[in-house]
Amino acid sequence: MAGPNYLTAPLKSITREMIVEISRRLIRYGALRDVTYVGLGSLEFVDHRMAYERLGIERLISIEAEHSLERLEFNRPYSQIEILPGTTNTRLPEIEELRTSRCVVWLDYTTRIRQQEQRDISYLANVLRPGSALFVCANRHASEADFARVQEEQGDYFDSGLRKIDYLGPNFADRQVHVADSIVRRRVSARADQVSATSVLDVRYADSAKMQLLGWIFAPTGEDAVAECRLEELDFTSPARSGEPLDLAWPTLTAPEWAALSRQMPADATTLVPPHKWVDRVHIERFIGVHRWGRPAAANA
Ligand SMILES: C[S@@+](CC[C@H](N)C(=O)[O-])C[C@H]1O[C@@H](n2cnc3c(N)ncnc32)[C@H](O)[C@@H]1O
Repeated sequence: MAGPNYLTAPLKSITREMIVEISRRLIRYGALRDVTYVGLGSLEFVDHRMAYERLGIERLISIEAEHSLERLEFNRPYSQIEILPGTTNTRLPEIEELRTSRCVVWLDYTTRIRQQEQRDISYLANVLRPGSALFVCANRHASEADFARVQEEQGDYFDSGLRKIDYLGPNFADRQVHVADSIVRRRVSARADQVSATSVLDVRYADSAKMQLLGWIFAPTGEDAVAECRLEELDFTSPARSGEPLDLAWPTLTAPEWAALSRQMPADATTLVPPHKWVDRVHIERFIGVHRWGRPAAANA
């Protein structure tokens, strides 16, 4: 089963689960078997395995700019995964399914959203069919020393009317959401074929690097995608739907402390009783945010 990275990157694993749960709601628009998954599977293809094993998606495409094709082909878990060597900028426009069928696309970048990533988002918002989903993972860290580079990376989306501090530290993630969401909205509203995009994810986390995961569902204009896909049931989508981030952080808890808290669930931060006074409230709140996704055996070990 997909998920070897859960032990070393538990929060990223949770965001993968969120992608699966949201993508499953695309069943409203037709069988998931008919969907195409396009991702950056790297050497382990964790996301492609999830797309096939958890969603039943059979058409799987992976784009990869760095690793050799021979090594990727050796490591792919299913021979039907089509590997496209090259960058997303050059390869995405060559994928016919993006224009002709429903797709789940996950651009799992490790960089910030720079001009080249903006181009990918722009292209996809222009072509993705209703009943598709787009997810974008990006680095959300920008220090003072990065400022000149960030200015260049943002290109036309750099807003000189803002203060420098708006582009630094925790504020940078807000700018990045603004850029990606503006691109999606602008592109979608310029389309002649009546498509709308609903923001469903803005999850901020840090397993090692500070990252954020953004997501949109594409639906026919005039249709309430939230109601049609019953997104109200997916509580982790509600912050993004209200323009707010969802912050995930891992609690520092031993296995017995985790178990003591689990026994009290469901509960909230006001009713959950700490196992003892040494467990700080902040870790109780973090626990509430992540507990339902499970605890990897070696977390905090
Ligand atoms: C974070 S890893 C993907 C991990 C995988 N999606 C998972 O779920 O574990 C990103 C991979 O995409 C490649 N990559 C990043 N940006 C790319 C781009 N713009 N075009 C092509 N490959 C890219 C990197 O070389 C790396 O192998």
